[in-house]
Amino acid sequence: PAGAAVDPDGTLVVAGCRVDDLARDFGTPAIVVDEGSLRARAREYRTALTDRWPNARVVFASKAFPATAVQRVMVEEGLGLDVAGGGELLSALRAGVDPALVVMHGNAKTTEELRIAVEAGIGLVVVDNADDVDRLEQLVPAGSRQGVLVRVIPGVASSTHPHVQTGQVGSKFGLTAAAARILITRIEASPVLDMRGVHAHVGSQIMDPAELAAAVAPLAALGTFPVYDLGGGLGARYTYDDRPASVDEYVDALLAAAREHLPAEAELIIEPGRSMVNGSAFTLYTVTTVKRDARNFVAVDGGMGDNLEAAMYDQRYEAVLAGRMHDEDSEDVVVVGRHCESGDVLVDPLRLPAARVGDLLAVPATGAYTHTMANNYNGYRRPPVVFVRDGEARAVIRRETWGDLFARDL
Ligand code: LLP
Repeated sequence: PAGAAVDPDGTLVVAGCRVDDLARDFGTPAIVVDEGSLRARAREYRTALTDRWPNARVVFASKAFPATAVQRVMVEEGLGLDVAGGGELLSALRAGVDPALVVMHGNAKTTEELRIAVEAGIGLVVVDNADDVDRLEQLVPAGSRQGVLVRVIPGVASSTHPHVQTGQVGSKFGLTAAAARILITRIEASPVLDMRGVHAHVGSQIMDPAELAAAVAPLAALGTFPVYDLGGGLGARYTYDDRPASVDEYVDALLAAAREHLPAEAELIIEPGRSMVNGSAFTLYTVTTVKRDARNFVAVDGGMGDNLEAAMYDQRYEAVLAGRMHDEDSEDVVVVGRHCESGDVLVDPLRLPAARVGDLLAVPATGAYTHTMANNYNGYRRPPVVFVRDGEARAVIRRETWGDLFARDL
């Protein structure tokens, strides 16, 4: 992780906190966030965009790390929040966001979620379909207007995992241009809706910014609006070999397309999620079993209950023995989780020093979509989220208790 160092005894230290102290105080597995790095990234994004296009706003895609504490950091750093539904919206409000800076998404929003959004007075609801408009027209009180964007399929096929491609025709998200035009005309005639602009999101974990910038022209072709929301999607670095574009390169690519196609006075919105948070966190595990047999299996006390990225999207990671950073890598291993299926593999293959039971293992680049999709498969408890900064560590979300597992039993 950014801000990492190694003590003379070989222990990994992040933001001044030794990992053995973190394991003692918070247990493992734990998702550890370098708060300084998180804030620096938020500022990097904000200045990269608004220095070059002042009428612009970065809204953090909360789904990448929907913890109130993370949303609060984004709010404090001057960002808005993108929320995927009612739960993320309630969390955003707890984080103290100005509702005017909230953008709500979803391809199947419920009436209840839209009611929460309208009552909270959020700035923009991204309309995905005609049913969203039907519902909003019922919910928005006469005499007021709800700002909306229309989500458009830009017709951009991106080079990423099929599960996270959303810009191609046939996607369940948004409308093709012809259908979008019909809905835009309807919204423009609505007494309670304010047609603010159009939105597109090409997909996620996209390394080449040209693929993201390719959404600008199709949006421009729909007409002149006050707002253009270009979505998120910039890839994050997980392994030493990954080379995603930098924030500057990404913003440059978007703005080159914007200067070519969009009105100069338009407001631009971007919604980074993964690339905003991924590099600022790592997951700390304890090795529970080492089995040297047909392969060298290093099994840890977590897995697909706290990180579904490898199992669901073939995401590749690195890992280190975080208490023995000076030891030489000496064997080829596969790092596996503790869940009851063979897909529960965290890193394969990996070179590590000879692992022993009780070793700490750190997997970097786990800020995005890990806490989000953590689950209770096999009755395991979801891990805490721990912020580290200037040698101080504090849990912002505690580990689940056994009691939490039965809290909904009737
Ligand atoms: N805006 C919209 C409308 C989105 O749907 C998403 C992500 C984003 C922004 C943020 O995209 P990002 O910058 O994070 O790529 N569960 C999957 C990721 C799904 C992404 C969904 N949408 C995973 O774990 O890889």
